[in-house]
Amino acid sequence: MASIYVRHKVIERRVTLLAVLAFITVAIGGIVEIAPLFWIESTVTRVEGVRPYTPLELAGRNIYVREGCYGCHSQMIRPFRDETERYGHYSLAAESMYDHPFQWGSERTGPDLARVGGRYSDEWHVQHLADPRAVVPQSIMPPYAFLADRDLKIADIAAHLTALRHVGVPYSDADIARAAADLAAQADPDADAGDLAKRYPKVLIRDFDGKPARLTEMDALVAYLQSLGSHVDFATASAQEAAR
Ligand code: HEC
Repeated sequence: MASIYVRHKVIERRVTLLAVLAFITVAIGGIVEIAPLFWIESTVTRVEGVRPYTPLELAGRNIYVREGCYGCHSQMIRPFRDETERYGHYSLAAESMYDHPFQWGSERTGPDLARVGGRYSDEWHVQHLADPRAVVPQSIMPPYAFLADRDLKIADIAAHLTALRHVGVPYSDADIARAAADLAAQADPDADAGDLAKRYPKVLIRDFDGKPARLTEMDALVAYLQSLGSHVDFATASAQEAAR
């Protein structure tokens, strides 16, 4: 026994040695916890229906970020009864796996938007964004009428897709090559959208801002809002969960 105390004394009297050995001991714990995350295929359970944003939705999302909508709106429904009854099924990790950066937010001055897609008509959104108090008299949301007057910048959209591919969003070469064409085609029901609907299931192809002749920032933002939370089919997803 005595020899253990003697050896320990050797460590305790050399502060550098003690620090090195303490670091190694703590690092083992860290490696055991962190290392597996680099080897397992994915730390997020894959869920059927989740897909990357279309170029038009992505352009709308960029406007959402630019305008700071996340300062008042969360996109994260917590698994509590008061939230799920108001907003719908609680958010799944997979539903924001292609969001870089994610838009969970931390403030709810306005309602959560994680499942706002399909809840209102396009006309409602256009009117609400242009003048929130025209549709919700007690609203304190600022107006964004200028979005309907600004042409959507589309020249750099392929670069946005490429950047997202670098951080793991599975855009194909075809998605990137056709990005600008896809973007225009989604907002124009008369255009030939090619295989857009095959590459992006459940894509909504229509004129979103009520001005078919022009592609505006309003088109993109409404396309984005209408896509939120609508891709996973919870009727079958919860049936699968129950069957497990
Ligand atoms: C200063 C805070 C604030 C900002 C910034 C803000 N909103 Fe809102 N938003 C609200 C409030 C409050 C409501 C609830 C009243 C209403 O419907 O207008 C709301 C409601 C909404 C709704 C309706 C949600 C529902 O389920 O009824 C949508 C959609 C929405 N906002 C989108 C946006 C978008 C897009 C932006 C950025 C361009 C934005 N908001 C910026 C405060 C804000």
